[in-house]
Amino acid sequence: MVKILGISGSPRKASTDYVVHAALKAAEEIPGIETEFWGVRGKKINFCTHCDRCIREKTLCYIEDDVKILIDKILEADGLIVGSPVYDMGITAQLTAIINRTRPFYMVMPGALKNKVAGAITVGGTRHGGQETALQVIHNWFLSSELLATGGLSGCYNGGTVWSQDKKAAGAEADTVGINTVIALGKGVAEAAMIASIGRKGWEEEKKRLGLDLSSTVEGHEAVTLE
Ligand SMILES: Cc1cc2nc3c(=O)[nH]c(=O)nc-3n(C[C@H](O)[C@H](O)[C@H](O)COP(=O)(O)O)c2cc1C
Repeated sequence: MVKILGISGSPRKASTDYVVHAALKAAEEIPGIETEFWGVRGKKINFCTHCDRCIREKTLCYIEDDVKILIDKILEADGLIVGSPVYDMGITAQLTAIINRTRPFYMVMPGALKNKVAGAITVGGTRHGGQETALQVIHNWFLSSELLATGGLSGCYNGGTVWSQDKKAAGAEADTVGINTVIALGKGVAEAAMIASIGRKGWEEEKKRLGLDLSSTVEGHEAVTLE
């Protein structure tokens, strides 16, 4: 099975949880896809303090909280669908903290997420309230983590964009145009994850046959094998 992990950055059970679930449901329409939902609501989430222990000790973030559990789930998944409410034209503090805590992915273990697939959804209370600027923040995380970012199927442009009118799940559901982008994002991520999963296996064999080593050559980003 190819696994898609849905992450909601909303601190309440409302529009963002609703749309992430809707995208996962659309993804499941592709046979062979299984999904899991993980939301920040009620979770213990600490901040990155730039202690650099991950770099010194060549580990993932040492802080024991719910983010640690999420990091394992991210490593396991073949694809990610990440949703956030729009807060001040960006993403929530909770999701920012999670992104910061994944710094070891590119500082300590480059290649950990390489060629996995990811797509994003943002939900704003205003029709044009910063859905696209918030998407950009999530996409920047995908790009710096070596994930393959997709905007979804044709018509989504750069991801799922929803207008909730500040009416929680009912508001998101009423935005039929936005929900269509969510469904197409879910399907697009699922298909791309399936292709990437099949392709990664073939490419590993091909690299072996060709004797190719394509691990990171950027200074200070040499991969280590974690215990
Ligand atoms: C602190 C804060 C900042 C917000 N900033 C924006 C914003 O910049 N643009 C916007 O369209 N909506 C903004 N909103 C509204 C939320 O994006 C909107 O209600 C969204 O649907 C909330 O997601 P939820 O239903 O999952 O909680 C903001 C809400 C809060 C609490």
